Amino acid sequence: MSEKNTPRTWIITGATAGLGQALAEAALEAGENVVGTARRPERFGRLRERFGERLVPVEHDVRDTGAAAAVVGRAVDRFGGVDVLVNNAGVGQVGAAEEVTDGELHDMLAQHLLGPAALVRAVLPLMRRARAGAIVQMLSYGVVSGAMLLWIVYCRIVVELLAAVFRAAAVISNSQGQ
Ligand SMILES: NC(=O)c1ccc[n+]([C@@H]2O[C@H](COP(=O)([O-])OP(=O)(O)OC[C@H]3O[C@@H](n4cnc5c(N)ncnc54)[C@H](OP(=O)(O)O)[C@@H]3O)[C@@H](O)[C@H]2O)c1
Repeated sequence: MSEKNTPRTWIITGATAGLGQALAEAALEAGENVVGTARRPERFGRLRERFGERLVPVEHDVRDTGAAAAVVGRAVDRFGGVDVLVNNAGVGQVGAAEEVTDGELHDMLAQHLLGPAALVRAVLPLMRRARAGAIVQMLSYGVVSGAMLLWIVYCRIVVELLAAVFRAAAVISNSQGQ
């Protein structure tokens, strides 16, 4: 919870399993509000039972960039704004580099670049107006290590995304200083 004891509002994509679910649970346990997304929102059952209406489950495929603004709109309608966006939803692509198809590449771009970028675009005007906000982008240690050839495509995409998020964050912090 924030210093003023006012709960913050988080949007966490892919919050029904793994890291996203753990983060959602931690935020809810700390008294925060969470808008959690997944393609199968029925898997929010346990968290909904525990935390009730402080968790808003939203069915959204992160590749559907046209629906990003509606996800943000759900947070605004229910909680009045967005303090933290966590771009977490994603899947790994494993295979030999020469076997990756165009379709698989497009899918990775949609999952890890276009989808998260659409959500960043949708929250930034709110965060600029509020002169505050945080955008968290889940990445992979493989980006740093570059250890596995199979992950080159994924790593390249997330490096680009990381750079974009940093630029967006710089814009928010510049506006805070004005
Ligand atoms: N775990 C690792 O070792 C590792 C390593 C490197 C990077 N990462 C990154 O960390 C993030 C979380 O990984 P994880 O292992 O915790 O994932 P996970 O356990 O597989 O959970 C993925 C979550 O994302 C949702 N999801 C998957 N595809 C989606 C889509 N197209 N649209 C919306 N939601 C989607 C899933 O729900 P639905 O299937 O119902 O949509 C689920 O809630 C990912 O971005 C992953 O690339 C993880």
